[in-house]
Amino acid sequence: MREEGAPQKTGQMAGLLGRDDRRSSTEAQGARRKERGTGAGLIEVRKTTPDDAGAIRDIAESLNYVPPGSDKGFLVHVRDEPEYRRILGISTHSFVAEEDGRIVGFLLILTMKELEAVADGIQTRDKVIQYILGLNDRTAVYADQIGVSLEARSRGVGQALAEAMAREHPAAHFLAAIMHWPTQNKVSVRLARRNGWTLRTEIPENGFVWGIYEKLV
Ligand SMILES: CC(C)(COP(=O)(O)OP(=O)(O)OC[C@H]1O[C@@H](n2cnc3c(N)ncnc32)[C@H](O)[C@@H]1OP(=O)(O)O)[C@@H](O)C(=O)NCCC(=O)NCCS
Repeated sequence: MREEGAPQKTGQMAGLLGRDDRRSSTEAQGARRKERGTGAGLIEVRKTTPDDAGAIRDIAESLNYVPPGSDKGFLVHVRDEPEYRRILGISTHSFVAEEDGRIVGFLLILTMKELEAVADGIQTRDKVIQYILGLNDRTAVYADQIGVSLEARSRGVGQALAEAMAREHPAAHFLAAIMHWPTQNKVSVRLARRNGWTLRTEIPENGFVWGIYEKLV
């Protein structure tokens, strides 16, 4: 049971919306929200553009991992705005979630070709990246980072982003690295498992242990 005033769960799962059909989908979701009477904002998921880099950087910074861990965030490799802009210029399948027009969440997704292009600029996660690339699986799709702002948590934004990824790649080998140590990122593990992902292996790197999760679809 949720406490009074705690974020309510709308149950609305935003779809993968093209820019042109957003209005009608928005109205449909708005209607569902009204029926449920949650008072929560309206969530939409859309593809990223490089101009989303600043908003993504802001969310990522607020979710920066601070040892030994907190319930706030587990993003170890927060990048600066030019780097997010560069990645968004390469990635063709990343998503942001907007609540009433404001970005509240993001999911950076890279195909293997895109990961190879991005990896030149990623030094600190070499072991994970090299492991993923070393699988030599051209159907592999890497979920590089997911983040939802604190005020938009537990309302299905993360789930909506995960569903958008699955819809975008109906036949793919999904992979992601989730922190297992020094603190297990339990919320992300639950999100992954809820969507059918399983643990493939663990990779120790620079004082961390990463759980490599995967899903074959
Ligand atoms: C992981 C993360 C993206 C999840 O985002 P989120 O939007 O809060 O995720 P969801 O709302 O979809 O799910 C969170 C919880 O709300 C629940 N929930 C969501 N919508 C619901 C609904 N309509 N009805 C009931 N429950 C719901 C989910 O079941 C889940 O519960 P659980 O964790 O107890 O299983 C977010 O916690 C985050 O940004 N964490 C910090 C960054 C991070 O760790 N990133 C991953 C490493 S790269």
